[in-house]
Amino acid sequence: MTSSELWNRATADRYDTEEAETSSPAVLEPTLAFLAELAGNDRALEFAQFLADNYGITDWTSAGPAGRCAGPEPRPVRPGPRSRECGMNTSPSVSAIGDIVITARPFTDYTAQFALTTDDLLAGPVLDCAGGASDFAATVRSLGGTAVSTDPAYRQSPSHLTHRVERDLNRVRQWTATQPDRFPLDESGQWTHAQRWNTAAGHFLEDFRRDRNENTGHYRAASLPSLPFPDDSFTLAVSGFLLFTYPGHFDLAFHLAAIRELTRVSADVRLHPLNDSAQTPFRALPRLLHHLAEDGTRTELFTVQGQSDSRDTATLRLTRR
Ligand SMILES: C[S@@+](CC[C@H](N)C(=O)[O-])C[C@H]1O[C@@H](n2cnc3c(N)ncnc32)[C@H](O)[C@@H]1O
Repeated sequence: MTSSELWNRATADRYDTEEAETSSPAVLEPTLAFLAELAGNDRALEFAQFLADNYGITDWTSAGPAGRCAGPEPRPVRPGPRSRECGMNTSPSVSAIGDIVITARPFTDYTAQFALTTDDLLAGPVLDCAGGASDFAATVRSLGGTAVSTDPAYRQSPSHLTHRVERDLNRVRQWTATQPDRFPLDESGQWTHAQRWNTAAGHFLEDFRRDRNENTGHYRAASLPSLPFPDDSFTLAVSGFLLFTYPGHFDLAFHLAAIRELTRVSADVRLHPLNDSAQTPFRALPRLLHHLAEDGTRTELFTVQGQSDSRDTATLRLTRR
């Protein structure tokens, strides 16, 4: 197939009119695959990735370096708002959170966003990096599994960390309140997930205090891209809302080093989401995938159902060969 077969004069004339046809998978999937084939350089590949991200096309990389997209029960995604600037979602209700926050996504957010089954969780030691104030690892342990969380914030004393978590969750509440169509409010005007996050944070803080009193080793202070564990310490490592979420803080080199470190300590690594907190896809993702493919790391893109933010739908699974 050639580009002119896909983008003929009639298609071009209709491009900026109502988008039903031009953004349909029937047109975009072969276009993206064609672009990926053409991509002798990163820019063309980035363009293809941006189009895919913006239109929810998950099935185009079969011709690209990342291998065919796969995942449990892929979900069709409706196209997002389109901008003239390649790849940018421009809904006024979407803003970035700013500096890195300590968040407290509950266990059920993790299982959904990383597409995890109970068997995955009980198959061997699990790493949560960065754990923040999530109760994921504590819940895995309560199910009979083994789990360790790392985060630089765990250097703080329980009382300091409690204060910091309260402050950061307050910041999240203020941020969500500015975007009601993205973060729905309940009858009392509170973000519908605020109570779940508070409960998870309470569960985490209680467990963190116990860890510091009893030296259980469940919470280790550490910062990517360096983890204090021998090779293959874990059967599964998950990392949510750190990588890709703060592109102003972490560049491509950091992401690559951090992911290599995660795949050193675990042969199965899952990362979510692949966009920042304003829903902008990570620009250097195609290059990152390219480097990982060169390392021999297998990459799979999953479409998942984001829990606290339903627009977070992309998860990357990395399997070391
Ligand atoms: C947005 S929170 C995510 C926490 C949890 N995964 C969740 O989804 O609720 C990001 C966390 O990354 C931690 N962090 C910041 N820099 C880090 C680094 N270089 N390595 C590991 N964690 C880091 C922060 O302390 C913070 O707790």
